[in-house]
Amino acid sequence: MIGAKLIITVDSSLGLMTHDIIRRGRLSALDDLAARFISSRATDEWLFRYDILVDIAHVTMLKQQSIITQTRHETLVAALGLIYMRGYSALPRKADDVHVAIETALIDDVGSEHGGWLHVGRSRNDEVVTCIRMALRDELVLLSLDILTLQEVLLDLAEENVDTIMPGFTHLQHAQATTLGHHLLGYYDALERDCSRVTDCFWRTNKCPLGAAAFASTGFPLDRDLTAAALGFDGLIEHSMDAVSSRDFAVDALGASSSLMLTLSRLAEELILWSSTEFGYVELDDTFTSTSSIMPQKKNPDTLEMMRARSGSVIGSLVAVLSILKALPYSYNLDLQEVTPHLRQGMRNSTESARIAIGIMRTVTINKERLADMSTRGFTAATELADTIVRVTHVPFRTAHNLVGALARSGDHNLSAIDDIAIKQVGQSLSSLGLSQKDVNDALDVHKNVEKRSVKGGPAMQEVQRMIKSRRQQLQHKRRNVRKQKKALEKAEMDLLRISGV
Ligand code: ARG
Repeated sequence: MIGAKLIITVDSSLGLMTHDIIRRGRLSALDDLAARFISSRATDEWLFRYDILVDIAHVTMLKQQSIITQTRHETLVAALGLIYMRGYSALPRKADDVHVAIETALIDDVGSEHGGWLHVGRSRNDEVVTCIRMALRDELVLLSLDILTLQEVLLDLAEENVDTIMPGFTHLQHAQATTLGHHLLGYYDALERDCSRVTDCFWRTNKCPLGAAAFASTGFPLDRDLTAAALGFDGLIEHSMDAVSSRDFAVDALGASSSLMLTLSRLAEELILWSSTEFGYVELDDTFTSTSSIMPQKKNPDTLEMMRARSGSVIGSLVAVLSILKALPYSYNLDLQEVTPHLRQGMRNSTESARIAIGIMRTVTINKERLADMSTRGFTAATELADTIVRVTHVPFRTAHNLVGALARSGDHNLSAIDDIAIKQVGQSLSSLGLSQKDVNDALDVHKNVEKRSVKGGPAMQEVQRMIKSRRQQLQHKRRNVRKQKKALEKAEMDLLRISGV
């Protein structure tokens, strides 16, 4: 009796209601402002393609488990293929997220008799997080490839500049001479770790939460391993509550991206300084600079400034996500929806920045004469002079350090620009210690300074060349692995879309 009454109510409500397929059984229409407030449609285009794939994998598994018939499966996948081809913009506007929009379109196209089976054994909670993981893993693969390309560009530039002498800095004060090749290789290594963080994150992201349903799984006999494999995942996020509630992969991704952006913003900052008139070390290509609307002579490093700023935005995305996740009760809460736009924006900012960095580093012009000229300024050979005193006279290093410090302080010698006269004067000052003029000449020759620094990781040309060689192999190996991941994901996607006839 109760059952009969219920059927009548549902039937009549279906006849009467015009608002969304989820609410119409239970609720009247949502307030317009509230609808916009809780909608995720602004970000959902990012997830559209993945949601179609998830739907196809889900219904295919339902057929394999005899939960839906073969005919229904064929109808559903063909209709999903059509919806995919019509594109995101053709989806019904009223639905508050992409999942409801696709289901609505499906029911509109093939009727509730078939379309109404799409969501059996499933919730938007496991559906959305599956889509996000799929979207993110693609972003991570692309970001890894971009970082690897940037690393290659830096390696090439380092190789061209293994003997480009320049001043190295500590505290932004001239410290010791080095080479541009060595300096750039430092960025390569930082990027290598950034790239590893991104690829580590890929493996934690590439686990499938589908089948967890709302949070407590389902009584339908789903085969979770089957959907996971069909969607190209490397296993499951097994625990059904954890599966829908966790967004730590987003924290991972934004953490890795923030770290990358810190490296890129340091590079941006140095290039901004180096392209100023004061430094004059490099000139950026026109294609990456802007001029002023009032000062016609200006060549501004706008792209680098934007990169420096975007690092702040990515850190902002990370902090936003951490703050949203903090203290959320289990399991799903709509707060989790608010994570997605920050994740998407953070990934977009990082990828765009990496691509801009590639373009800038490919086209930058190095002013080798200026770098060479500045490499002796600020008494950059002082450490080597102190080391030479130790080697020749066997006084303790601290004594030699004090001696050379006093020499720098006295200002008698024009040590900010070591010329022949200055070298002679230093030679005379130190001759009483037993240093020959040749000892002093060698110590004050910045090229020789660099060549002496041949310990592992140092700037001596041979050592830098050795490092470049081993890094080229490392790069090839890494690129091969990331490309393999990319191919596997593409294959899973093609196989799924083929079922639907797309
Ligand atoms: N659009 C949502 C999200 O991005 C998924 C929907 C879950 N909504 C819900 N009320 N359970 O997380």
